[in-house]
Amino acid sequence: MERTFLMVKPDGVQRGLIGEIVGRFERKGLQLVASKLMQISRETAELHYAEHHGKPFYERLITFITSGPVFAMVWQGDNVIALTRALIGKTDALEALPGTIRSDYAIHTNFNLIHGSDSAANAEREIGIFFESDQIITYEHTI
Ligand code: CMP
Repeated sequence: MERTFLMVKPDGVQRGLIGEIVGRFERKGLQLVASKLMQISRETAELHYAEHHGKPFYERLITFITSGPVFAMVWQGDNVIALTRALIGKTDALEALPGTIRSDYAIHTNFNLIHGSDSAANAEREIGIFFESDQIITYEHTI
C-alpha cells in the first residue's frame, strides 16, 4: 500500500473544482485518509517547492500557491502515486492527455489546478510538511 500527497491549488479552489477533482480519485477506487482546507504560508510553500528554488518560474509559483486557500490531501492505494499522476495529466495542459484533470480544466502551466507527488520519497516528505501523523486516518475499505 502506497501513500501520496495531493493538493488542489488556489485556482482549483476558487473555480469550485474541489468536488470534481476529489470525485475522480474516489471513483477510481483510491482512499482518502486526510484532508484540510488551508492557507499556505510563504515558509511552507518554500519547503514544499524547495526543488524548484532558483528556477525562472519559482517566484511566480510561490506567489500563486500562497495567493488563496488550497485543499491538501493524503490518498492511499496500490500504485497511488502513478495512478494519481495519470489521472492528473502532464504539467503543461497542452501536453496533458484528454480525459485528465489538467486537460479537461486547465489551459496554463502556471494555473494547473492540482499538485501530485512524483515519487515515494517526495510523497512522504510532502505529507510531513502538511500533516501531523495523527491527522492521517487508518481504516480498511470494507467494500
Ligand atoms: P506542480 O506539480 O505543482 O510542481 C511545480 C509547479 O511549477 C508545476 O506544478 C507548475 O504549476 C509550475 N510551473 C510553472 N512553470 C513551470 C515549468 N516551466 N516547468 C515545471 N513546472 C512549472
